[in-house]
Amino acid sequence: MVGIIVTQEDVFHSDSRFIAMGIFKDDIDSFTLDQFNNDAENLKKDVISKGEFKGNFGDACLLHINNHKAVTKIFLVGLGKKKDFTHESARLLAGKVVQKVKELGSREFSLALMNELSNDFLSSLVEGLKLADYSFNKYKTDKIKNYQNEVENAFIIASDDNEGLEKIARQASIISDAVNFARDLGNLPPNDCSPSDLARFAAEAGNLPNVDVSVIEYDELRSRELNGIIAVGGGSNHLPKLITMEYFGTKDKEVRCLLVGKAVTFDTGGISLKPSEKMDEMKFDKCGGCNVIAIIKAIAELCLPINVVGIIPAVENMPSGSSYRPGDIIKMYNGKTVEVGNTDAEGRIILADALSYGVKTYSPAAIIDMATLTGASIIALGSNVAALLGNDPRLVDKLIYAANQSGEKLWQLPIFEEHEEQMKSSIADMKNIGGRSAGAITAAVFLSNFVDSTPWVHLDIAGTAWFQEGSSEKSYIPKGATGFGIRTMVRLLMEMSNSQA
Ligand code: BES
Ligand code: MN
Ligand code: ZN
Repeated sequence: MVGIIVTQEDVFHSDSRFIAMGIFKDDIDSFTLDQFNNDAENLKKDVISKGEFKGNFGDACLLHINNHKAVTKIFLVGLGKKKDFTHESARLLAGKVVQKVKELGSREFSLALMNELSNDFLSSLVEGLKLADYSFNKYKTDKIKNYQNEVENAFIIASDDNEGLEKIARQASIISDAVNFARDLGNLPPNDCSPSDLARFAAEAGNLPNVDVSVIEYDELRSRELNGIIAVGGGSNHLPKLITMEYFGTKDKEVRCLLVGKAVTFDTGGISLKPSEKMDEMKFDKCGGCNVIAIIKAIAELCLPINVVGIIPAVENMPSGSSYRPGDIIKMYNGKTVEVGNTDAEGRIILADALSYGVKTYSPAAIIDMATLTGASIIALGSNVAALLGNDPRLVDKLIYAANQSGEKLWQLPIFEEHEEQMKSSIADMKNIGGRSAGAITAAVFLSNFVDSTPWVHLDIAGTAWFQEGSSEKSYIPKGATGFGIRTMVRLLMEMSNSQA
């Protein structure tokens, strides 16, 4: 795990062997490297005069420096025009630098954004560095050969000496580490991540001050009549669990936010079996739940003054003699009845019980759920944007604001009465499927029946939870689970903890 050190030392006096320098297009004619030595300056002049480096965003050029006491490589990266530079640019750039450092096998490097490092870009740089450094090696046995080139330290060169910088870097590190932790969980194969494994990982992650993790086991799920979770989990030899993580960061009783995350450790579709093509990707159907575990971990490490509860219904959706069936009618935890039209629409059923259990137990001021809920959300918005739906415009706006800052793209879909019609059943209170049209919306309509009047937002992360067909390449987003949504949520909770209402 790369360590981040913010330093005020002049880049030209750095004793790193590898220096990455971000250069704005505006400065392409004026910046000089002769403060290192003549050799560096001549190499720079050469690449610029030959048009190999123009300072455009995404340009990159590696200079091999001779005759310097420390520096052997200068990696010039183009930042584009100053006026176009954003947080997302900073994350992409930092990610690109880490990729290069790893490729070249350096253990340490310094990164300088020439004269333009505002506090705000610092957090994005840290995120880019840490998120791009991620790799999932747990199952590679040839570790020494392949992974000896771990990057140990990144020195970020700050332009002004501001006391707040350390804290900003530390917070961004905690958040990025939480994202990487969620990726580690999400990437686990289904044979190593059953509902009980996940419960164990949650307990380990929640071993922090002010966090209390508990697991409702099968017998208790039955006696409490959490029948939606019981039904969906019934087909698997691995029993379902309901994991709760309570974080009380303040002395008062009120739970400001309830987080609910879908954790289907493997989704075969059940009796409504999925086709085998890409079925392996359904190991990522637990990512919503993994994210919630990571969010609680992050806010506890940040010691946010806010009370938040995470609830993760964990099941495996399997076909067997004990599976629930199409045609079954389930009496849910809140007493409403659901006619099962398709056992592959399982996420909404377990979320529904978790939502109503959370509302009843904690009376939260707000609820946010995250789930790889529908293929329809991918059809609607693609694999780089998550769908957002909710019943409270103020909460919706807060999420969209936080998402704009984190660079995680969310787009709101509507819920109209006509959509509600689609979920009606002739023999029960509702069905679990609403036909082919508006599938992401009807899934949210289903959930809306289980939150009472609590302000609630649902994030359908089916397209964004892992790198999949249609995902666009980004330096800081690796293959596999992405942790999408965590940075937005932690930002939102930071905002909420700063304000009263
Ligand atoms: N986990 C899937 C949704 C999913 C599919 C996520 C593909 C990511 C990629 C969910 O449980 C599911 O199977 N949904 C069905 C619902 C349908 C039966 C109404 C779907 O989207 O096809
Ligand atoms: Mn399914
Ligand atoms: Zn699913």
